[in-house]
Amino acid sequence: MAANEQKKRILTGIRPTGALHLGHYVGALHNWVDLQNQYECYFLIADYQALGDHFHDIDLIRDSVLQVTLDWLAVGLDPENSSFAVQSYVPEFAELTMLLSFITPLGMLERNPTLKGELDALEVERRTVGFFNYPMSQVADILIPRAHLVPVGDDQSPHVEMTREVARKFNRMFGEVFPEAETLIGKVPRLSGTDGQGKMSKSKGNVIMLGDDEKTVTKKVRGMFTDPNRIRADIPGKVEGNPLFQYHDAFNPDTAQIEDLKTRYREGNIGDVEVKMALAEAINNFLDPIREKRHYYEQNMNLVEDALMAGVARTRVIAAETMKMVRDAMRISSYTKNWK
Ligand code: TRP
Repeated sequence: MAANEQKKRILTGIRPTGALHLGHYVGALHNWVDLQNQYECYFLIADYQALGDHFHDIDLIRDSVLQVTLDWLAVGLDPENSSFAVQSYVPEFAELTMLLSFITPLGMLERNPTLKGELDALEVERRTVGFFNYPMSQVADILIPRAHLVPVGDDQSPHVEMTREVARKFNRMFGEVFPEAETLIGKVPRLSGTDGQGKMSKSKGNVIMLGDDEKTVTKKVRGMFTDPNRIRADIPGKVEGNPLFQYHDAFNPDTAQIEDLKTRYREGNIGDVEVKMALAEAINNFLDPIREKRHYYEQNMNLVEDALMAGVARTRVIAAETMKMVRDAMRISSYTKNWK
């Protein structure tokens, strides 16, 4: 890339509602670690958005902000190269959400299929105005650094689509300020929970956390769901859709071993325990360096806070720049000569 050519900007985020697990790694973090070398990245801890379904559990949000940062550092996100940010530390996120809400028709939110599904699943008293409006705030998250690319799972693409619509409308009404952000959907294998269920969550207890110790990992792998029809080791088993083999494919670098295990599993020539022990070993090997780094940072929480605050400082700079462009374009907040 020529020196004068600007790197494209990326913004992506996560809601701080717990420490991160293998599903986060495979579905997002692994990809982010690669992207940080090619792009100017902003990684956002969306604590306002977490209020949407956790306003009753602010202790969890508070604790998770630093847990998520620890996990990011442990997997190799580089806080010097990329900017970590906390939504509530950069007031411009809230300001832009508010301003954009005046040019965004209700129908855009009402039609959003991801939001619709989530609202339907919420008890009526938890359906707040803030929750309804979270895609609007996600639009502002993406527009504050004027991001070009948003790496997210496909459930999030309606929000990115909405970002483009809002950006187009803003640019048309007030002049060109925002680029049109594109979704960047990586090719990621789908991991199911250790219980074989699609949805992974810490509260369901079907996840292996990035910070789990060796014994915990081995215990969780031993308890993993496999082919339920295989009640004895000499019955041919099903490999496809079997979480044991999904995890082998994702975390075991020894493909020859995986092939051997699969062949014998299909033939009914192997016990589940052998497959599980090989998997526990593979996952533990995979997690070892991550655990080590995580442990180091746990002992040096000042470095974790520094990493976060350095990113916040950089995000504040670009946020101030964007909001100046927005206010100038909208001709808002400059009614008196000495307004600053
Ligand atoms: N909604 C995202 C999730 O739950 C988190 C998020 C917040 C986000 N702001 C974002 C993702 C901006 C991409 C861009 O996973």
